Amino acid sequence: MNNFLFFDSLPSTNSYAKEHIHELSDHSLIFAAKQTSGRGRQGKEWIAPEGNLSMSLVYKNQSGDVSLYPLFCALAVCRTLFRLTGKNPQIKWPNDILFEKKKICGILCESIIFSSQIHIICGIGINVNTDENGFQKAELPYAASLKMLFGREFSLTEIAKVISQEMDSVLKEFNLHGFSNLKQDYEHQLFNKGRHVQVIYQQKTISATCLGIADNGNLLCDCDGEIISVNSGEASVRGLYGYL
Ligand code: BTN
Repeated sequence: MNNFLFFDSLPSTNSYAKEHIHELSDHSLIFAAKQTSGRGRQGKEWIAPEGNLSMSLVYKNQSGDVSLYPLFCALAVCRTLFRLTGKNPQIKWPNDILFEKKKICGILCESIIFSSQIHIICGIGINVNTDENGFQKAELPYAASLKMLFGREFSLTEIAKVISQEMDSVLKEFNLHGFSNLKQDYEHQLFNKGRHVQVIYQQKTISATCLGIADNGNLLCDCDGEIISVNSGEASVRGLYGYL
């Protein structure tokens, strides 16, 4: 088992990992039963009502292209949720996880660079045992929890441990065989594929059709016959009528 650090409460598991990166061993799992200042993508706050899973996985001294980690995490979460529920979730690029068109999980991957060393922190927030009124209060209409969809509670620590195992197996697969099989698996679950999307880039909105993903994890879209490659750090993607 990877090094498992359990906290009753933390401001943010990702911030903890960043602040303690030198003390943490490779493949550490940081788990907080309660997270009080969670951070989301694009500088947004991440609200975790009671019953949510908040965790970060730490991968130290990684080399090469780290842009695929958000996609690796999405796959590890999908495989975990399939193991636990028997149902395949979908992925809204780059790494929102959906069940029945509702957001179940958000992922925030961050890297810390010290000269030639790159450490990656993969933050994962899953709506697990949250009640519907938790989302209503937080005004999150696109969110749902596993409990709302499957009618039962799940163990937060068990999910965290399975994600950590699945992440190990995704990384092993990548190191042995490269990205092609994982890419197929990812695209198979990609909600956006074949759909009309709006790419929001530098305050401009471009309408396009999603074709799939590139080898570097960018989203490939057809915009009036021109193929554009969208980077998740620079642009966001929405459906025609809002989140989806
Ligand atoms: C998003 O969808 O915007 C990403 C949300 C990521 C939330 C998780 S919860 C655990 C980890 N710690 C944080 O502060 N954020 C991530």
